[in-house]
Amino acid sequence: MKTAELRQKFLKFFESKGHQIVPSSSLVPHDDPTLLFTNAGMNQFKDVFLGFDKRPYNRATTAQKCVRAGGKHNDLENVGYTARHHTFFEMMGNFSFGDYFKHDAIKFAWEFLTSPEWLNLPKEKLLATVYAEDDEAYNIWLNEIGLPAEKIIRIGDNKGGRYTSDNFWQMGDTGPCGPCTEIFYDHGEHIWGGPPGSAEEDGDRFIEIWNNVFMQFNRDEAGNMNPLPKPSVDTGMGLERMAAVMQHVNSNYEIDLFENLLKAAARETGVAFSMDIPSLKVIADHIRACSFLIADGVMPSNEGRGYVLRRIIRRAVRHGYKLGQKNAFFYKLVPDLVKEMGDAYPELKERQAQIEEALKNEETRFAQTLETGMALLENALADDTKTLGGEVIFKLYDTYGFPYDLTADICRERNIDMDEEGFNREMEAQRARARAAQNFKADTQLAYEGQDTEFTGYTERQTEAKILALYKGSEPVEELAEGDSGAVVLDRTPFYAESGGQIGDVGYISAGGNRFEVRDTQKIKAAVHGQFGIVVSGRLKVGDSITAEIDNDIRNANMRNHSATHLMHQALRDVLGSHVEQKGSLVTAEVTRFDISHPQAVSAEEIAEVERRVNAAILANVEVKAALMSMEEAQKTGAMMLFGEKYGDEVRVLQMGDFSTELCGGTHVSRTGDIGLFKIISEGGIAAGIRRIEAITGLNALKWAQSQERLVCDIIGEVKAQTEKDVLAKIQAHAAQSKALEKELAKAKAELAVHAGAKLLDNARDLGAAKLVVAQIDAEAGALRDIVTDLAGKSDNAVILLAAVNDGKASLCAGVSKPLTAKVKAGDLVKFVAEQIGGKGGGRPDLAQAGGTEVGKLPEALDSVADWVGGKLA
Ligand code: ALA
Repeated sequence: MKTAELRQKFLKFFESKGHQIVPSSSLVPHDDPTLLFTNAGMNQFKDVFLGFDKRPYNRATTAQKCVRAGGKHNDLENVGYTARHHTFFEMMGNFSFGDYFKHDAIKFAWEFLTSPEWLNLPKEKLLATVYAEDDEAYNIWLNEIGLPAEKIIRIGDNKGGRYTSDNFWQMGDTGPCGPCTEIFYDHGEHIWGGPPGSAEEDGDRFIEIWNNVFMQFNRDEAGNMNPLPKPSVDTGMGLERMAAVMQHVNSNYEIDLFENLLKAAARETGVAFSMDIPSLKVIADHIRACSFLIADGVMPSNEGRGYVLRRIIRRAVRHGYKLGQKNAFFYKLVPDLVKEMGDAYPELKERQAQIEEALKNEETRFAQTLETGMALLENALADDTKTLGGEVIFKLYDTYGFPYDLTADICRERNIDMDEEGFNREMEAQRARARAAQNFKADTQLAYEGQDTEFTGYTERQTEAKILALYKGSEPVEELAEGDSGAVVLDRTPFYAESGGQIGDVGYISAGGNRFEVRDTQKIKAAVHGQFGIVVSGRLKVGDSITAEIDNDIRNANMRNHSATHLMHQALRDVLGSHVEQKGSLVTAEVTRFDISHPQAVSAEEIAEVERRVNAAILANVEVKAALMSMEEAQKTGAMMLFGEKYGDEVRVLQMGDFSTELCGGTHVSRTGDIGLFKIISEGGIAAGIRRIEAITGLNALKWAQSQERLVCDIIGEVKAQTEKDVLAKIQAHAAQSKALEKELAKAKAELAVHAGAKLLDNARDLGAAKLVVAQIDAEAGALRDIVTDLAGKSDNAVILLAAVNDGKASLCAGVSKPLTAKVKAGDLVKFVAEQIGGKGGGRPDLAQAGGTEVGKLPEALDSVADWVGGKLA
């Protein structure tokens, strides 16, 4: 059975058991600061398990893209060396949200695995583990499934703490978790390894193929296990492992999908294909992780997710290098991957060109240092070293771009230990920076347990409401007095809370003479708006009836910019291509700042065309319509959805005629004409492959146009042009003229200096053994050196010290004719003088330069030279 067929079968089976087939979510978890990458099928349902989110179904099934590299679940080091570890893999899952629990979960898994209608696996090949305390699961296996007792293994807290066990699954350090029962497949005696719980469990004989997690708790930051509102089920069946079972092979790398990728890796590295080359496995594994990550918007970089991607790419490239491939090759595997997986995951096809380009760039960049880095490493390992020093590891990391685990990979191949402590010491500073950059923790939130806020701000600017809670700073209080700053929570509010790039509303909350100035609005929980600000007069009490009123001008400006952003987003895709994706957005009253993926600068013509299209849409003055609908219906409208964004089941579709349809919760103008003039004011790169565009609308655009006009008028006046058309010609003429003048001036100065130099020598003081020239001349600092060199060469016993003052600073240059340098050294001379004018300097015995800032002391310093030189000659 081919992998693709197995994927479909799983989904079909659970659909037949009343499960909704839900698409895979992005590898980049949105709105979840605790997670680096999507690492399990349950991630997209985390809030449903926690009771924060509801779906129209209570059973779901998915084929989920997962990456386990660099986060809590990290398999990177094992890839290539075991039969079953991957950085990227597909997890098939079935989920119950407060519906069925242990009985059905176990029965479904068993039926799918063993029923002749489905996978028809021999029962005697299967065994199960349960959490040691979970008698219920144990008894289901024993009595309801009929698994013999010796094939049901209890595993307790075997990882050093309460609820830390191979049979207690948790997504991260916090979040939903619970005991689990895992199903193992015995690949047979001919393969080394023992059953779970035995000393040989890490071998490849007994392979875990399915994990049924009984979600019961939410672990919080303090480690408390809070019971979930409803016990639920989260399962995961590793697609590749299961395909290996179905295809009667032991290693995941021998399944159909991988075989083709391995062959492609052999082709591109120029080695003969064999299953026994770990490097080919590493490359075949890594092309999947890297391509899928890039398809989901991650780009190689030096921090966070981007750095994990960079590490994986570089590891693949190093393995190619090891096989003898010194040129960029990795990106050439992308078409092979698209062939294997592009049907199940169309984003691979859609973004193929981008993926190839990003990989090629990263490979090329790393190739420049790989060879030198490898030479350094070989050198360090040359004399039977058993441990690689921390400094070398750090240098490889810092100078040659070898991530730590890449060096570790090489050391492991050669049985070399690594001085990790030494490396860590060297890394101290860098790590502090990386920690800051990888700050995935959410902001502290206000402790609030009350009802949600009803948002009235789509239609109202002013709303009568009640105060539900007050906070002074972050402390809950009953009352806020004049001068207190804090937050107000209302039952209903017209204040938009910052989200989707649009900043929060400002305005007032008032009751009679009591007035609170709202300076920002933020969500303090998914559906609770916090109005943040200060009491400007009187006081507010919990329970007060108040009037909440937003600042109209600012809100209108926000809306104009937000609606314009949608039009611009569509226009950018139309003009630049559909690879353009939103990478970030900030909408304020002043400006909309929009980041997009695009490999090069957007040209002036392209910008003009985007502006033209957006303004045409504005002039069409179509109605802006918002409608709530199911995700399915929304997809039918062709609405643009942000990649990686997590949407609930009911979504808000915002449509502006034929110009733009996008999912959005923001506030918008009623008709496009309300936006007024749209103008892009800047474009630039902010990271590899990411451009930032800033644009303005409405009165801001008018203001901008007026200030441009004023500027042009000022320039016209300055260059004395008659008309605007004249201006450019005038400026060009000015520039050409001043260039010519500069040239002439430089020539004249040089001539003068030579002339003056010659005269200086004529007037030199005769000290017997030497001719002394000391003078301050009018020359550029750079010219001094030429003059001194010239003079010193013209005589065989000259000592010269010239000074020049430019821009309030003195420059000195000393020269001594070669035959004299045994007695008088230019370096010493210049130092002697420089020290008197607050400077330092030195240099060769025959020529030396220095400077000083105390120009007033220069004449005296020059006067002292004759005695100093006389002393040296005596
Ligand atoms: N979430 C569970 C796992 O990843 C099913 O193993």
